[in-house]
Amino acid sequence: MDLTTEYLGLTLKNPLLPGASPLSYDLDAVRRLEDAGAPAIVMGSLFEEQLALEERAEFEEVTSYEYSSPEAAGYFPDASSFTLGPESYLEQIAKIKKAVGIPVIASLNGTTAGGWSRYARLMQEAGASALELNTYFLPTDPLRTGKDIEAQIVEVLRSVRNEIDIPVAVKLSPYFSALPNFTLRLEQVGANGLVLFNRFYQPDLDPEALDVKVTLQLSDPYELRLRLRWLAILSPQLRLDLSASGGVHSGLDVIKSLMAGATTVQMVSALLQHGPGHFRNVLEFVNMWIESHEYESLEQLRGSLNLKTGPDPTAYERANYMKMLQSWRKMTSGFGAMP
Ligand SMILES: Cc1cc2nc3c(=O)[nH]c(=O)nc-3n(C[C@H](O)[C@H](O)[C@H](O)COP(=O)(O)O)c2cc1C
Repeated sequence: MDLTTEYLGLTLKNPLLPGASPLSYDLDAVRRLEDAGAPAIVMGSLFEEQLALEERAEFEEVTSYEYSSPEAAGYFPDASSFTLGPESYLEQIAKIKKAVGIPVIASLNGTTAGGWSRYARLMQEAGASALELNTYFLPTDPLRTGKDIEAQIVEVLRSVRNEIDIPVAVKLSPYFSALPNFTLRLEQVGANGLVLFNRFYQPDLDPEALDVKVTLQLSDPYELRLRLRWLAILSPQLRLDLSASGGVHSGLDVIKSLMAGATTVQMVSALLQHGPGHFRNVLEFVNMWIESHEYESLEQLRGSLNLKTGPDPTAYERANYMKMLQSWRKMTSGFGAMP
């Protein structure tokens, strides 16, 4: 089966991508991913906070120390806690380009329009073929409205878009009150794609230590459902490319994401769990599944279960919620304990 996919202006030999992760910082892992069939490499992110630190360092070199504030330093993470600094990140783009023959999608992670967006241009100059703009943000200020936050993300996109000619995909959180409207605005401002979605790493509490525990937990396949719903809703309404990210562990997860309308499908946790070789297994399954179900092309399968084309469009909407709650009553009827 020909799995060729056009994504962010790139012609990829298949729609499965290793998503943004530290695997991109290990050239051996990058080569193994290419051998296993990866059609491009998405790099881990360079963070606005890192670039702000860098700019602050440059600023402090040329200004008097009386202006520097030791307290302010406390708000920034320590530079050494990031995997790659800005210079090494740009060098890593060039190293990956040299090590493998597949395109590199660099990633910038930030939430405020500012000087750091010039790094998008440096990434392009270093050889990135496209850019993911990750807008991970958690509002805690009760005076800021949803409208303010959407406007801020649009401004970040605009400032990055102005820096570069290569395509940009915005990696979003699912928590917007009117996602179809917001994503349409991102398309109008020049986003070439959306990555749905960021995962929110929820902190846990340690009651004995009276502390908040921040631990990284890999994803669960159940998390894919949220992505499937929004892919199915957004794909018939937007022209830009959609990439699924979150909960993709198996070949069947990839098939479902494509049927919901994904242009490409990203995988991270499963690769970190099973190693880059897992990529080949998933890809082989996808190929075999599509052929054995006698699809004539990937395009015939893509979007076949979206909001417009699926046999029951209401399944993605409020009716689904009602049906689901009622099905629970049916399942349990006969058990005296349930109402
Ligand atoms: C260890 C680790 C590091 C990650 N680093 C980044 C990153 O730098 N930038 C980014 O956009 N996403 C990053 N992610 C998020 C992944 O790209 C992906 O969106 C998320 O893990 C959900 O996909 P999955 O279910 O396949 O893991 C990271 C995830 C993990 C597990």
